[in-house]
Amino acid sequence: MKKIFAANWKLQKTPAESANFADQFLAQVGQLSADIFSHKEVFIFPQNFSLDILTQKFSSSKVQVGPQTIHFEKSGAFTGENSAELSQKMGATLVLLGHSERRQYFHETNSNISKKIILCQGLGLLPVLCIGETLAERENNQTEHVCFQQLTDALTGVDTQKRIVIAYEPVWAIGTGKVATVEQVAEIHSKIDAKMKSLGFKDFQILYGGSVKPENAPQLIALPYVDGFLIGGASLEVASFLKICQCL
Ligand code: 13P
Repeated sequence: MKKIFAANWKLQKTPAESANFADQFLAQVGQLSADIFSHKEVFIFPQNFSLDILTQKFSSSKVQVGPQTIHFEKSGAFTGENSAELSQKMGATLVLLGHSERRQYFHETNSNISKKIILCQGLGLLPVLCIGETLAERENNQTEHVCFQQLTDALTGVDTQKRIVIAYEPVWAIGTGKVATVEQVAEIHSKIDAKMKSLGFKDFQILYGGSVKPENAPQLIALPYVDGFLIGGASLEVASFLKICQCL
């Protein structure tokens, strides 16, 4: 199975900066002796202003691009929201959903996320669903309970026969430099794998996110049930992102 390296740029990069990243990334990938796309997938979730330029830049490469969220209605009067359908028409093939920052600051609920996943599936967009516990929840031994609840609720009504990607991101490890230990990642990823199978999913991958850097990526990617990474800060520079993409 191909490992996935996904970049979440949050509110960073103008379209010109995104275009520059794409040019540099493709040039550097082109200079590598091996074709990284033969056994890896690369996803980029830019700020929406850069979606168009990136889908154009990557149109003849295997890098896939998508928005960081969408609205759950296909179309209509929803000022300020992102349209999944328009994203797809612009060349997006993926959507990031349920990121903890959206849950925390924008009242994203599992029930809304489930509607968004169903819309993505209908359009043929690959949903990348984020789950993960807060520090307080981990300290209260609720990690498994919280992750399972997020999976069960956000995946209600979702077609189990279609591919989906899960990104486990412990909230306390995002942007903090605190990476979960290999034991913590191994334990929860194996539980998420079992839970996804018990819900009936067959075609899914589980990413780890939270302070992934070139230095810690090799240890984490070697763990069972770690199918790739969702990377914030370290995905903003071509050199560090490419180094993570080459961690195995
Ligand atoms: P960092 O890699 O900066 O911790 O961000 C993780 C993240 O939120 C990716 O979605």
